[in-house]
Amino acid sequence: MNEVIRTILKRRSIRSYRDEPLGNKDLETLLLCALYAPTGGNSQGSRFLVVRDPKLLTELNTIIREELLSFTGEISGMQGQGIRRAQAPAYHFLYHAPTLIAAVAPRADKNSMANCAAGLATIMLAAVSLGIGTCWSNQLRWLTDSRRIRTFFGSLGLREDEDFYGAVGAGYPAAVLGRAAERRPGRIVIDGVPSDGKER
Ligand SMILES: Cc1cc2nc3c(=O)[nH]c(=O)nc-3n(C[C@H](O)[C@H](O)[C@H](O)COP(=O)(O)O)c2cc1C
Repeated sequence: MNEVIRTILKRRSIRSYRDEPLGNKDLETLLLCALYAPTGGNSQGSRFLVVRDPKLLTELNTIIREELLSFTGEISGMQGQGIRRAQAPAYHFLYHAPTLIAAVAPRADKNSMANCAAGLATIMLAAVSLGIGTCWSNQLRWLTDSRRIRTFFGSLGLREDEDFYGAVGAGYPAAVLGRAAERRPGRIVIDGVPSDGKER
């Protein structure tokens, strides 16, 4: 197994971080990797808005919490869990990761979700290889229509024609990488034959 494959298999979500900012060089590398993720038609339409000022992150956390607790839109299963989590007074949407990287892209482009996900996945894998922890955070996706969120990000680079499609928190982990959950069966079919993906 080569180093890249080992890194991919090792990645886990990190929800506990050291109280230390992400180094400039490390952040630069993650963002460079995001820019080299594939985009449909090479549109390069996905963009990455970074927030690392602790005051802004605290302000954003307050807005997200209040918006989630007063959310009136359609609530899916995972979102319900996310809203319940926001009820805790100590709630922090990023688990106190020192850096937020939010992926935004034009809402009119049908590839935007895939383009942003490809960028964020690339960031998460590059992060493992650098000893940086990440966890996907979907709150901004759920709240992409929130006027308060859009106003907050208006001065942080969000354009009116763009939506949030996902985000990750990133920082140096305070936890060791846990074991991955068992992989569910039935997720691979080769030439119509269900497979566990292993060549025999
Ligand atoms: C689209 C998507 C949304 C997610 N949203 C959240 C989230 O809002 N909060 C969170 O703690 N984890 C979130 N996660 C992380 C998943 O819970 C995690 O990837 C999953 O439990 C598998 O664990 P692993 O990443 O350690 O392999 C999300 C992951 C994806 C791909």
